[in-house]
Amino acid sequence: MRDFHPDDDLISPEDYAPQETPGDFDPGIPNQLLDFILRSGPTEVVDTDLFAVMKKRRSTRKFSDKPVETVKIDKIIAAADTAPTAGNFQGFEIFYIKSPEKKSLLVNACNHQSYADAPVVLVFCKNPSRVKFNFPPYILRKFAIQDATLAAGYSQLAAQALGLSSIWIGMFDEQKIMDILQTDLVPSSVLCIGYPKQTKFPKSRRNLKDLVNVVW
Ligand SMILES: Cc1cc2nc3c(=O)[nH]c(=O)nc-3n(C[C@H](O)[C@H](O)[C@H](O)COP(=O)(O)O)c2cc1C
Repeated sequence: MRDFHPDDDLISPEDYAPQETPGDFDPGIPNQLLDFILRSGPTEVVDTDLFAVMKKRRSTRKFSDKPVETVKIDKIIAAADTAPTAGNFQGFEIFYIKSPEKKSLLVNACNHQSYADAPVVLVFCKNPSRVKFNFPPYILRKFAIQDATLAAGYSQLAAQALGLSSIWIGMFDEQKIMDILQTDLVPSSVLCIGYPKQTKFPKSRRNLKDLVNVVW
């Protein structure tokens, strides 16, 4: 079990157990498990060209029933753990929702967006209590939301690289999700992942020239 808050008895999620662990696994060795998962299978990683992955990623709201392999889920989670965080304090948590009942409650919490019931659902929450800077609480909260958001972005790209697709859900009732997860940590995004029913072309963006404001 993990403690998110010293005085919080709400949270008692199961420990996360990846499909494969190193034979000589030692939780005391920094990054041993993370490095193992990042370099392990699946062998049919679809795309290792980062820029191609970015170019092809497209939000998907219709997923096929094909289950996502656990090794892929492990890699998606590991990718989140590689993201930079403020002071390396990792001011976020991932809730990996497996229960079908909780997923259907999540649909309601996400403004009735039916695709919240996807094959893989990860809820990224802010955990400012991990950010041990001696700054005012609003700064710690600001760091935590950036940490959680960036980590979810890394997971989203990893999913794409693994031949999966995803939808980022930001429209939700925070308290409803907190009730489902039984946590007092505030969610920042819900990342729904699966095999797409159909591959789509990327959406258009504004002209790159209009995006950048050059300042001298
Ligand atoms: C902060 C944020 C919040 C979003 N919230 C939702 C949402 O609640 N529901 C949804 O269907 N899509 C949501 N999206 C997905 C966007 O609609 C999508 O990324 C956008 O239309 C661009 O399309 P693309 O991802 O295919 O490039 C969200 C994306 C972001 C980054």
